[in-house]
Amino acid sequence: MITAVIGLQWGDEGKGKIVDLLAQSFDFTVRFQGGNNAGHTIVVGDKKFALHLVPSGILHKKVTGVIANGVVVDLEVLLGEIKMLEGEGIRVKNRLFISPRCHLILPYHKALDTAYEKARGGAGLGTTRRGIGPVAADKVSYNGIRLYDLLDWKSFVEKFNFQTGIKNKILKALGVPPIQKDTELAKLKKLRSAVLPYVHDTFSLLQKARVQKKRILLEGAQAVMLDVDWSPYPYATASNTIVAAATTGAGISTRSIDKVLGVVKAYTSRVGGGPLPTEIVGSLATDLRERGGEYGTTTGRPRRVGWLDLEAVLFATQISEVTALALTKIDVLTGLPEIKVCTGYMLGGKRIPYVATGHKELTHLRPSYKIFAGWNEDISGIADFKKLPKNAQTFIRFIGDYLKLPIEIISNGQDRNAIIKSRSY
Ligand code: IMP
Repeated sequence: MITAVIGLQWGDEGKGKIVDLLAQSFDFTVRFQGGNNAGHTIVVGDKKFALHLVPSGILHKKVTGVIANGVVVDLEVLLGEIKMLEGEGIRVKNRLFISPRCHLILPYHKALDTAYEKARGGAGLGTTRRGIGPVAADKVSYNGIRLYDLLDWKSFVEKFNFQTGIKNKILKALGVPPIQKDTELAKLKKLRSAVLPYVHDTFSLLQKARVQKKRILLEGAQAVMLDVDWSPYPYATASNTIVAAATTGAGISTRSIDKVLGVVKAYTSRVGGGPLPTEIVGSLATDLRERGGEYGTTTGRPRRVGWLDLEAVLFATQISEVTALALTKIDVLTGLPEIKVCTGYMLGGKRIPYVATGHKELTHLRPSYKIFAGWNEDISGIADFKKLPKNAQTFIRFIGDYLKLPIEIISNGQDRNAIIKSRSY
């Protein structure tokens, strides 16, 4: 049984919590794209875990974690996370396997990410500056260095020196201090010995698990609206984030994925630049941001917020062949007198579908809204859909009906247990 969890908006839908909830009944939890630009927050009692590279499912003792080939890896971040987890009594050794095919985020990638952003000036994309774009560019231009290369230190050093030489010329042209080869190599040598015990052929591991009908959970990072092909490029992240990315990123064909759970937040948020058709500004935005704790897990940046955009989400469900939904952060809307939902885009007096837009159209179009009455009752402890205020039920039912998908999970609070499971649609 293979299930994928995919974000359907601009990221930060609360995938970490959903993965954590599901992972307890899975054997494997797998990251297949992205890198430590991701930030998955899981709250367990009074502890808050923010994971960037290690799959969130690892918090459950019986689950094996896999960082598959599609993930780009910053060794320092990865090893820091492993250390943090071990410090919290969560054993990671022999329970986390990392593909040698993963490309490495190296110091020059981070320097270039920052330098390009600065060079763009006011038109910066708002990247997380974790080196994600530059490492992806190196990967497809045959300049990448993989975990595989680290197995042979001598050849790694040669490749690293060659690449650093080139990158330092670019950094110089951008007016940025060069990378100090020897200092960085000394750090990398230490990181190398710490990471090698985790390096493993993850394809064979997952292939065997699939044949043995083990339960595999594919943990998507970022979200469909940031997909490098399907977003309003260049306001994207440097990977494919749709479910098909699991095929290239973990060697698991979409044909063998039984279920795709799409995660939708009850409103919208986005961190970084780029169009956000349903964006809310002013005091309502500040209010929503504060209630929802909408600050980046990775960078701490305040997130932009907006109304739920079902035009975009509908496309996201189609491209990722979503079979069911998890609706998150519904509790954040409590107390709002009215709640808007975008049900289509209008441009020049005509309806325009999401897929026909580029970043310019998305900036200028006018969303059509359906307006719902809000509710004031505290819904955070409610575990039964029918006990929700009627107005909340109407709002939730509309989302399922519009997207023609069952809403199987509703999250109404930060805690692991703040969940309504519902299959009654
Ligand atoms: P990059 O992935 O760091 O290159 O950033 C490109 C864009 O994707 C920026 O707008 C980031 O804010 C956004 N982004 C990247 N990762 C995440 C994520 O995990 N959640 C939300 N936004 C993200």
